[in-house]
Amino acid sequence: MSEKKEKDEEKEYKLSDLPGIGPSSIAKLEAAGIYDLMGIAVMTPSDLSELAGIGEAVARKAIQASRKMMKLGFFDGLEFAKKREEVNFITTGSENLNSLLGGKGVETKAMTEAFGAYGSGKTQLGLQLSVNVQLPVEKGGANGKAVYIDTEGTFRPERIRQLADALGLNSEKVLKNIFVARAFNSDHQILLIDKIGEMIKNGEPIKLVVVDSLTAHFRAEFTGRGQLADRQQKLNRYLHTLMRLAEQYNLAVYVTNQVMANPAMMFGDPTTAVGGNIVGHASTYRLYLRRGKKDSRVAKMIDSPNLPENETIFYITANGLRDEA
Ligand code: GTP
Ligand code: MG
Repeated sequence: MSEKKEKDEEKEYKLSDLPGIGPSSIAKLEAAGIYDLMGIAVMTPSDLSELAGIGEAVARKAIQASRKMMKLGFFDGLEFAKKREEVNFITTGSENLNSLLGGKGVETKAMTEAFGAYGSGKTQLGLQLSVNVQLPVEKGGANGKAVYIDTEGTFRPERIRQLADALGLNSEKVLKNIFVARAFNSDHQILLIDKIGEMIKNGEPIKLVVVDSLTAHFRAEFTGRGQLADRQQKLNRYLHTLMRLAEQYNLAVYVTNQVMANPAMMFGDPTTAVGGNIVGHASTYRLYLRRGKKDSRVAKMIDSPNLPENETIFYITANGLRDEA
């Protein structure tokens, strides 16, 4: 009896073990980049229903079953601590910015969003993280590779080389460990995310996914009156997919977002990010970046559930992000 129980605990459950999930649903889920129970466990019934082509009640049961099989929901203190231990941090290169983010930088199993105006440093932070993620854990990295989804054609290999050299890393190796994809429209951008799960399954130790910019295509494509709801819905689903990826594979997601000038705030900071609340809610950490005095950058933590709304200063130097110019 106890031997059987042990076997049960060791068993690796598959999608096909879930009630109501047949081969055609499995094919659809895999096409959407969902290969295992964790992918199901973190979904909402309506998302699963839509993705797998099943009813919502069936979807709810499948989600419940997956959580049970994974023993999600309840953890004893030790298990909980162990889960937290899995989280890695990726240094930004600036201790100030790291502190603002809670101490050690950008976190895995979470999404960090930077929003700000042109030239505020959103892309530079993305490039820096793509290099730093490759550092060993003791040096503020996650010993992993990066995926860089570039919607604006702003990925710069020369800059990566500079950042790598500054850390004493082999710049060719560093470049090889960043998978760059140019996303040509929002659908393409969404499809690229699905590929990431596949790459991880194939053994790529991806610990960071950068989407630069998260919103540019969405903003360009949904311009008409009355299209806002469609845009938000699509963006919302995309964000959930990203969050799921972060949770499931213990990786950090970093996205950038342009600010929209708010005509009602002519003289203040135009801090209205594209996508508004939907992006705000999905991000675990939201940084507002702007240019400060003497070529500095000011970063402000915005409505994070567990961090104060502090501000700090950093610089973009030839060597990358630093506390001093
Ligand atoms: P948009 O994408 O246009 O919205 O802006 P962004 O927020 O992504 O700005 P980005 O991160 O590209 O910041 C550009 C700024 O970074 C430049 O104005 C420079 O101040 C700085 N920068 C970029 N490359 C270098 C570099 O090689 N050396 C130094 N010292 N600074 C750089
Ligand atoms: Mg940029």
